[in-house]
Amino acid sequence: MKVISTEKSQILAARIAKELNTAIVDVKFSRFPDGEHYLAAGELDDETIIVGSVTDSDALVQLLLLIDACEGSRNHLVIPYMGYARQDKRFRSGEPISARAIARAFAEGVENCITVNIHEPAVLKYFGVPTTNLSLAKDLGACIRSMNLSDPLILAPDDGALAFARDVASVEGWDCDHLEKTRLSAVEVKMAPKKLCAASRSVVIVDDIISTGGTIATAAGMLYQQEATEIYAACVHGVLIGGAYAHLKASGIRDVFCSDTIERGCSRLSAANRIAASFRS
Ligand code: R5P
Repeated sequence: MKVISTEKSQILAARIAKELNTAIVDVKFSRFPDGEHYLAAGELDDETIIVGSVTDSDALVQLLLLIDACEGSRNHLVIPYMGYARQDKRFRSGEPISARAIARAFAEGVENCITVNIHEPAVLKYFGVPTTNLSLAKDLGACIRSMNLSDPLILAPDDGALAFARDVASVEGWDCDHLEKTRLSAVEVKMAPKKLCAASRSVVIVDDIISTGGTIATAAGMLYQQEATEIYAACVHGVLIGGAYAHLKASGIRDVFCSDTIERGCSRLSAANRIAASFRS
C-alpha cells in the first residue's frame, strides 16, 4: 500500500504514510500553457490511499486527475475537507446539488471513501461506494486541554454545531453551550442575544468550518460585551477566506487554530492519526 496526494494535501498525506509506515508516491504537478492541470504519478502499488482536500476548483481537478492516474490499483479515497458540501440540497430552483455532483465524480475509480467532519453527513449517500465520516472533535478537545485553560466554556456558534461542541467538551467534561445565529448573506451573520455565563471565563468557540470568520468574530464581540475574560476560536477546517485569520485576531480573539485537513500556518492538530487508524481497523 502507498499514499498519494494532491498538492494541497501533501503534508497530511506524508503524516498518514508515516503513521501507516508506508511509502508516499512522488507526483509531478504542472500546468499546460493554457492553464490546464497536468500531473504524473511515480511508481504505484497495487493498493493506494489517495488524499486530496477540495479546497478550491484547482484542487478538485487535481484530485479527479489523480484518481484516474491511479487506475489499476485498489484505491481508497480520503477527502479531508470536502468543499462544495455546503450546497447539499437545491435551495432554489435551477441550482445543482453540488455535493452530489462532486461525490459522484469522485466515486468513479475508488473502492471506498473517507471524509472528515463533512459539513452535512447526508451527502455521504451520493458517493455510491462505502463511505465513512471521521470526527476530529476529540482531537480538538485534546488540543484545548493542552492549553491548560482554567475551566473553559466550549461554545458552538449555533445549535447546528452543538453536537460537535459537546463532543469537544466531553474530553474533560467542560461546560458547553451555543449561541443563536441568523445568516443574512453568504458573508454576513447576525448573532441574536442569548444569556450565557461567559463573564470572567475563558471561552473557546468551536465549529466545523471557519470560512470568512464572520460568525465567530460577531460572537466574540458579543461575548466580550458579556465580560468574557478571553476568547479562542478552533475548527476542523480552516477555510479562512478573505483575511479571516486577521479579522478574527482584530476582533480580539486570542488564538485561532485548526487541523491540517486544510494545511495552514495555524494548523495545530492533525487528522493523520484518525485517518490512519481507520485503515488499521
Ligand atoms: C456553517 O453552517 C458552518 O458550520 C460554519 O458555521 C460556517 O461555514 C462559518 O462561516 P463563516 O466563517 O463565514 O462565518
